[in-house]
Amino acid sequence: MDRLEFLKRLGVLTVGASLMGSGVSAMAAEAEDIPEIAADKKIKTKMPVMDAGLSKPVTVMIIGAGGRGRTYARYAEKFPQSMKVVGVADLNPNRRKAMAKKHNIPAENQFGHFNDALSKAKLADAVVIATPDNLHYEPCMKALELGYDVLLEKPVAPTERECRAILKQAHKYNRIVAVCHVLRYAPYFVALKQVLESGAIGDIVNIQHFEPIRYAHMAHSYVRGNWPLSTKTTPIILAKSCHDLDILRWLIDKPCETIAAEGSLHLFRPENAPKGAPERCTDGCPHEAECPYSAIDIYERRKQHLGAFDLPRKDPALIREKLKTTNYGRCVFRCENDQCDHYVAIMKFQDGVTASFSMDAFTPWGVLRTRIMGTKGFIEGDMTTFTFYDFRTSHKSVWDQKVSEIPEYKGSGHGGGDHLLVRDFLRAVSAQDEKLLSSTIDVSIESHVMGFMAEKSRKSNKKMKI
Ligand SMILES: NC(=O)c1ccc[n+]([C@@H]2O[C@H](COP(=O)([O-])OP(=O)(O)OC[C@H]3O[C@@H](n4cnc5c(N)ncnc54)[C@H](O)[C@@H]3O)[C@@H](O)[C@H]2O)c1
Repeated sequence: MDRLEFLKRLGVLTVGASLMGSGVSAMAAEAEDIPEIAADKKIKTKMPVMDAGLSKPVTVMIIGAGGRGRTYARYAEKFPQSMKVVGVADLNPNRRKAMAKKHNIPAENQFGHFNDALSKAKLADAVVIATPDNLHYEPCMKALELGYDVLLEKPVAPTERECRAILKQAHKYNRIVAVCHVLRYAPYFVALKQVLESGAIGDIVNIQHFEPIRYAHMAHSYVRGNWPLSTKTTPIILAKSCHDLDILRWLIDKPCETIAAEGSLHLFRPENAPKGAPERCTDGCPHEAECPYSAIDIYERRKQHLGAFDLPRKDPALIREKLKTTNYGRCVFRCENDQCDHYVAIMKFQDGVTASFSMDAFTPWGVLRTRIMGTKGFIEGDMTTFTFYDFRTSHKSVWDQKVSEIPEYKGSGHGGGDHLLVRDFLRAVSAQDEKLLSSTIDVSIESHVMGFMAEKSRKSNKKMKI
């Protein structure tokens, strides 16, 4: 079999021509009449201004001053004319005090449990709810009743019943609830959506969407850390991937009709522990030197995912202490976890449009990959760059604007999406107009239901109707 035949059998020629090097492109064009790709053209989109530009700051109470609560509060440090943090609730006294100090929050507006904060009269225009997944429902229901608008972390709640109750409560009290589906606000996805809406690709026929988690991130978050048990938090299809289902629904812009899913926990199970592995990596594990999931390697040597430790500095002795005393030092094969480490779902949307989704722990990187097949063109992207191929003209156009280099975007994760969401939320609260948001509670519940149905399908071995 010659090289061309081999590549044909692999099926890489049609989509891979530009990736495989010029020699292969030329061969492919000759053999399969694949159009020559014209010189690059840039797709330019206007980068949104990050400041909400309000004349009076929206006042906000942060409920849950952990990783996400701090991310959203950082917006107020950068744009104090548009947002002011006036209250905080967190059970962790260090996090609470740190937030209070940074934002000059008066003592009477500092709380431990969210119940204490929400048993008082309304003290701000809005609340940010960034507590763990199973602690969104209660504070959100109460905050809406008190008349707060809410920036609500995803997933909305662990059950469909609670999600629908929050939706009902938002309508009942006529309040704004923005769900933190931050990808909808990232300039990369906004540009992608604009190209789709321009009609250049024709009708969308199918999407392949891949969410690579990254092996160390999987171990950190879904084996050792905050979300190891689907029953205590939410199944990984919601805890990690509700963003992705939401993006698919948003890009296709049609309701999802059916979903079928498969997946399991392949690796991080007690029976896979290598012989002699102790409870913790720090207990002299004989496999430490070669285990890719070694806590010593991930946290101490590579200094990854240290945000969860609240350390004053990245001192190896302080990190080692955390590995000896918290779940983050445990052997990944002995963590009482049940989240799937690989998950696939097949969806059918209105008009027969299909999508396949794949989430995987076993990857070296963690950025989303998306391929969109249209009747007139094809798009392939990796969350920093996407390329549009036009079938008729053979032209290729690239969107590759460097979001990370824009100074006012610094400190906003998810390709700028974190703070652009806050910006739109503040504008919506200020104008009391939820139409200024892309991720209202109504549309967010729809994509959450897709996640609940995916999990039902995986467990029951049945295709589910949405
Ligand atoms: N939108 C996104 O892209 C994204 C990314 C990561 C996490 N999340 C979600 O954000 C939420 C928070 O995640 P995180 O990574 O910030 O977690 P975290 O553990 O860093 O923060 C949660 C905070 O809530 C506090 N808390 C717990 N119980 C409380 C209570 N009863 N009253 C007051 N405070 C309480 C904890 O002390 C902690 O500081 C989760 O629901 C998570 O799934 C969303």
